[in-house]
Amino acid sequence: MRVDIITLFPEVCRVPLGESMIGRAQEAGALDLYLHNLRDWTGDRHHVVDDAPFGGGPGMVMKPEPIFAAIESLRTEASTVVLMTPQGRRFDQPQAREFSARKHLIILCGHYEGIDHRVIEHLVDAEISIGDYVLTNGAIAAVVFVDAVVRLLPGVLGDEQSAADDSFAGGLLEAPHYTRPAEFRGWKVPDVLLSGHHAEIAAWRKREAERRTRENRPDLL
Ligand code: ADE
Repeated sequence: MRVDIITLFPEVCRVPLGESMIGRAQEAGALDLYLHNLRDWTGDRHHVVDDAPFGGGPGMVMKPEPIFAAIESLRTEASTVVLMTPQGRRFDQPQAREFSARKHLIILCGHYEGIDHRVIEHLVDAEISIGDYVLTNGAIAAVVFVDAVVRLLPGVLGDEQSAADDSFAGGLLEAPHYTRPAEFRGWKVPDVLLSGHHAEIAAWRKREAERRTRENRPDLL
């Protein structure tokens, strides 16, 4: 998969997307990631990317010209253009899976009060919000979006099974996990997990997944 991120703050994306699994996905050739500064597509001496809103009001609006120039220079037939915005559709695991099947994602990061609406009407294929809160900068949202999508690409997770077992993949949160020591500060690991009885362990995990979901995310049931 190829991913191009267009932002005023490429450095915000560089470290989180260069480390760990996403870094290894690039070394393994599963991901081709390019970070771009939107100012590189401005034509004026001061590299202006924003202007005051028509109709008045606070804040600044991102201008359409550099955004159209950037996306039109990167886009091919195989591209999907995604805008990170708190006004977008709320991102979830099924969408992460859908986007992981695309060949080329161009991710545009919003900033300031908003973006000229002609960009949304004529350039963007999907508007995505990572949750019901407002960040200072869409580049932070883009990091979250790319991480969730890229970890689903074939060969990126060490153990293919682990994505299938993830919370949300089966509609429930995951059952609790434990590792050695079997007793820590007097707190013991549930006996069933030490029993070696696979059917009982599976039944326990299912019950616990339901209990965790009821407690933390009753909206998923
Ligand atoms: N930019 C600012 N807040 C955001 C959010 N919640 N999701 C996506 N992009 C954003």
